[in-house]
Amino acid sequence: MIYDFAPMEGITNYAYREAHRECFPGIDRYYSPFIAANQTYSMKTREKEDTAPEHNSGVVLVPQILTNNADVFLWSLRQMSQRGWTTVNLNLGCPSATVFTHGKGAGFLADPSRLDAFFEQVFEGLAAWPNSDTENPVIPPAVTVKTRIGIEDASEAPALLAVFNRYPIAELIVHPRLRKDFYKGEPDFDTYQLFYEEYRGPLTYNGDICSPADLRSILARFPDTARVMIGRGLITNPALVRILQGGPALTAEELMHFHDEVYTRQKAAMGSFQNTVGKMKELWYYMGSLFPSPDSARLLKAVKKARTETAYLEAARELCKQI
Ligand SMILES: Cc1cc2nc3c(=O)[nH]c(=O)nc-3n(C[C@H](O)[C@H](O)[C@H](O)COP(=O)(O)O)c2cc1C
Repeated sequence: MIYDFAPMEGITNYAYREAHRECFPGIDRYYSPFIAANQTYSMKTREKEDTAPEHNSGVVLVPQILTNNADVFLWSLRQMSQRGWTTVNLNLGCPSATVFTHGKGAGFLADPSRLDAFFEQVFEGLAAWPNSDTENPVIPPAVTVKTRIGIEDASEAPALLAVFNRYPIAELIVHPRLRKDFYKGEPDFDTYQLFYEEYRGPLTYNGDICSPADLRSILARFPDTARVMIGRGLITNPALVRILQGGPALTAEELMHFHDEVYTRQKAAMGSFQNTVGKMKELWYYMGSLFPSPDSARLLKAVKKARTETAYLEAARELCKQI
């Protein structure tokens, strides 16, 4: 089984990814949160830093691009291949209103014929990949796609699947929810079945894997599953992949060490305590559910309310011990 760490905007930046790789080896590929490539053919400093090879040592990174413009996507592929990344992912899943109303992310799924024209231009562009330096040619990256199954209704899925089946997409990652579901409700396994049976290329399952039982039930229904992508389950329990592979549970010492690694790296990346603690609190929103006892709830509150670095670190370390 290949285990991929899902992109999580606001959480899985390079500081988090490097700390995770060091503390919990076993992830095959880490995806960057989406890079909102736009018509100005430029990237934000944060996006450049996040995908810089020197910030991703030892990490197999798949940068993710959010766009509905084929020229911009082709430009992004070149940027990423110059950084040495061999696979680039297209985001067709982001449900947020600002992204959606611009026809990007899940918004791009509204118009399968436009999506078809986009892929046609992208794969034509890749076939004619410009290589001015013949001595050191830049190899075009493989293009993968991460998608939802539609916007309002699962009946949209077959037309989308038909588009994906027409192009040499290196891997299709399906999160079987509609845009209108955001991250709520149950994944739609009946519609996923359609992709499982009829998608012609490599397929990856993504959604709601938080325990060995969750993975077992996916494998019971879809036994040929060879790749899974995990987001919230891994953010909540950073040892989840080891546990899925039959390894031991997360210990307090490991969690404390991981927390401190993430904190130190985030602080180096973010500068101020305020920005760092803001990032850490987003992480605690998920990791908090590792601690269901009332005593832990009190400590979690202290973590979230901490106003100084000392208070924050004391509360966070005390909380880690409760696992
Ligand atoms: C806070 C948050 C940020 C996310 N950011 C991204 C993103 O940048 N790109 C993307 O493709 N998906 C993003 N996702 C979706 C996840 O990658 C994943 O598809 C989703 O959470 C379902 O998988 P899971 O149940 O394993 O978490 C985000 C989800 C959450 C909750």
